[in-house]
Amino acid sequence: MKTVVANLKMNMNLEDCKNYLDKTKGKIDTGLNVIICPSFLYLNLFKSDEFKVGAQNCYKQKEGSFTGEVSPYQLKSINVDYVILGHSERRKIFNENDKLIAEKVIETLKNNIKPIICIGETTSERDLKKTDIVIKKQLLEALKYIDSDMINDIFIAYEPVWAIGTGNIPSLNDIEEIVNYIKEIVNNKYNKNIKVLYGGSINNENIQEIITLNNIDGVLIGNASLNPDGFIKLLDQIIETI
Ligand code: PGA
Repeated sequence: MKTVVANLKMNMNLEDCKNYLDKTKGKIDTGLNVIICPSFLYLNLFKSDEFKVGAQNCYKQKEGSFTGEVSPYQLKSINVDYVILGHSERRKIFNENDKLIAEKVIETLKNNIKPIICIGETTSERDLKKTDIVIKKQLLEALKYIDSDMINDIFIAYEPVWAIGTGNIPSLNDIEEIVNYIKEIVNNKYNKNIKVLYGGSINNENIQEIITLNNIDGVLIGNASLNPDGFIKLLDQIIETI
């Protein structure tokens, strides 16, 4: 089953969220594993039988004096089953490094929450032809504390930083190669097949060619998930294609 993660980021107030839920109700195909990730505030509101909910971040500790943070332990207590970790906005704006992300990954798994780990190269890294090196480093660092029996519960989202919110995407061939490269690295180390998603400027025009790429397990969508009607159309396109 293909996975579609909708990263709503820091968008929508309470009324917008209610409207979003009204408009999508009864329209999400059960043939897809859809995970919608609203702000922490609205996780409970988004509970649904049609899709799963995920958080956009969490902290690495169970509880304590960490003002403003939310832990996997707390997320699990309201039945959140997924969390996005290491998104490039967290890495860049909030200075998250590979070590912190690795610590969050293991804490998340210990609480039976599935991490969706984002990795991807910047424009300059791409220009310097360092994509492979960057991907491998971010990947292995993020998985540093995990055991092979945890691989099945992890998603890797390949999100080139230069493709996020820009309207630019890598060539289909490049996406396919990187997805295979990620799977190969994990296979060599853990002897398991890891699920890999692509994210970055997915829209109604390019979704069909991306979702049919060999080996891809799904997609992570930002902007194109914000409009409920557009998002439903996008999901329908996936269903028609696969
Ligand atoms: P985008 O965002 O689809 O708007 O490019 C993707 C992401 O940030 O995960």
